[in-house]
Amino acid sequence: MLDGKFGKSVKKAIEILIALGKIYNAERMVRIGSAQISGISYKNIGDAGIEFLEEFLSDAKVRVKATINPCGMDTEKWKSLKISNKFAEKQFRIINLFKKIGVGIDCSCTPYLIGNKPGFNEHIAWSESSAIVYANSVLGARTNRESGISALAAAITGRTPMYGYHLDENRRANFLINVKCKLESISDFAALGYIVGNKIGNNIPYFRGIERVDWDKLKALGASMAASGAIALYHIENITPEAKIKNMLRSEFREITIESIDDAYIKLNSTRDREIDLVAIGCPHLSINEIEYIANLLKDKKVVTKLWLMTSRKTMELAMKRNLIERIVRSGAEVISDTCLLVMPIENLKIKTIATNSGKLSFYLPSYCNIDVRFGSIEKCIRSALTGVWGD
Ligand code: F3S
Repeated sequence: MLDGKFGKSVKKAIEILIALGKIYNAERMVRIGSAQISGISYKNIGDAGIEFLEEFLSDAKVRVKATINPCGMDTEKWKSLKISNKFAEKQFRIINLFKKIGVGIDCSCTPYLIGNKPGFNEHIAWSESSAIVYANSVLGARTNRESGISALAAAITGRTPMYGYHLDENRRANFLINVKCKLESISDFAALGYIVGNKIGNNIPYFRGIERVDWDKLKALGASMAASGAIALYHIENITPEAKIKNMLRSEFREITIESIDDAYIKLNSTRDREIDLVAIGCPHLSINEIEYIANLLKDKKVVTKLWLMTSRKTMELAMKRNLIERIVRSGAEVISDTCLLVMPIENLKIKTIATNSGKLSFYLPSYCNIDVRFGSIEKCIRSALTGVWGD
């Protein structure tokens, strides 16, 4: 690859990975099963990013299953979302670059729900923080927190440097988190994730005291911790796959007890404002179960505040087959695919306050987009879409 025998793109890609491996003292490369690539939105990468990709990918083809993160718009209803023609043209150019080299162009941060689902112990190179932590923790796959470029280089070469979370010795937890409070809703798990990420940074937590949980709650927990603390891997006693089969706590660890998640509900509400401009649910992208749950809450009701449900196109199509989308749309809510609020040019929409159940979105929106947030459960968010105000 380094000799250029497989073309310019492969040579460049392996050079990037070797440089990365040297920085982290990797002894060798490891073959990967899949890649997940972020940095897709034209809002984030701009013209310079397009030029870089065109040059880098000139003769590339991916060697493994690869998918991309949300892009900057819904690729079908972008016009009604006030996306300009110029933005859309550039965004399609980026997507087509990936398509040409064999990347799956379902733009989603939940690839594991729509066909890019790695197996236990499988080495992968993923770059979306919420997907990384889900793959490592809930699926037991192995990835570092890749950048968009290193994940792309891994997709082109089929390899990644073997260091960090790829190695057994780096996967055991160094923080024991005793959870002493009751966790019920998905937003409770997001709130817990926010607190733990804040307290332990990019360390590895081992949770004790969490008994009943489902995939959607684990999705929210990880996304929140990855945002507030750059956490890439967690274990839950008797629940997550590695913790089920062996002791995943190091012999030396620090201990934290969480008695309450109330503080997260206070901090993640950046305003006391009760007027909401947009209710947004689906960060990370909604699963089919979440869509069904929301569709039931909206049955025979009408929203008075704009309500967006964000999901992958494949999940949306599945929901359509089950007549859930029809029910949602009848309420006046919208289902938005392929994108996410952080990578869309939402400035055009002149939004001041957003209500959400997402810890990650609540963490980033005020600083990234200068938008205030009301954070609460799905039920509370839906209620505010139906009544027009955030209830206390
Ligand atoms: Fe996904 Fe965007 Fe949230 S990438 S995790 S919807 S910030």
